[in-house]
Amino acid sequence: MSRTVYVNGEFVAEEDAKISVFDRGFLFADGVYEVTSVLDGKLIDFDGHCKRLARSLTELDMDAPVDDAELLQIHRDLIAGNSLVEGVIYLQVTRGAADRDFVYPTDAKPSLVLFTQEKSLVDAASAKTGIKVISVPDMRWGRRDIKTVQLLAPSMSKMAAKAEGADDAWMVEDGFVTEGTSNNAYIVKSDGTIVTRHLTNEILHGITRAAVLRLAAESQMKIEERAFTVEEAQGAAEAFVTAASTFVCPVVSIDGKPIGAGVPGPVALRLREIYIEESRSLAI
Ligand code: PDD
Repeated sequence: MSRTVYVNGEFVAEEDAKISVFDRGFLFADGVYEVTSVLDGKLIDFDGHCKRLARSLTELDMDAPVDDAELLQIHRDLIAGNSLVEGVIYLQVTRGAADRDFVYPTDAKPSLVLFTQEKSLVDAASAKTGIKVISVPDMRWGRRDIKTVQLLAPSMSKMAAKAEGADDAWMVEDGFVTEGTSNNAYIVKSDGTIVTRHLTNEILHGITRAAVLRLAAESQMKIEERAFTVEEAQGAAEAFVTAASTFVCPVVSIDGKPIGAGVPGPVALRLREIYIEESRSLAI
């Protein structure tokens, strides 16, 4: 069925949506995005996504096309217009259309596109079985804290995982795991301590990460924000990933080596449960 999507001020059928061939998102990957999950027809952590979007735009000297109140209304209209109960809303802002030039144009108007994707989030099969990951070199640029649309390196890494019969890849730089192709990476030590990489320009500052670490701290779990190696992960009691599109998802093997018992671990499953419970109650 055709969706209703949002393009620069208009709600249109997906087959009628148009963006210029001169759009810098298309020519330079000169754009940023957000993915916000929807549960029970409501938005999870909308505020966090707005704040990160504003930061991404500022880092690239790009203007916000609309304010947060209007953005919320667009999200809500898309949910209503597509009868979306569970899934995600994808939002993309690019610098807009201008004659091709490496110098930023001064007169381009930012393009704003949003669309919905239906997805089973709570009952996702991957959360029950856990996912298998492989490790790959991190081929991305140096500003991974900006959520840009240049996603070819993670896409290639995910294809490498699929080619090996795995589900996803953890990217490794200077011997340490940075993050998953589209999620933040965690391990759990045998004493229950959660380890996840500290926030720098080397990883995306996940909105789900912030919520999960807050919930873990509130549940008296110990947290270490530091880098870890693939070897440490393979010897860990558990591993998991977080993202708006997967919430908390257990990882059961790395490079073919089972983690712990090779099944989803109790810490990951507990964090998933409390994350879903809290998200449902705070969704707007
Ligand atoms: N990806 N790290 C990377 C590289 C990501 O692309 C994402 C999200 C995350 C998790 O961030 P958050 O918790 O805010 O979703 C971490 C989205 C879901 C995507 O590209 O589809």
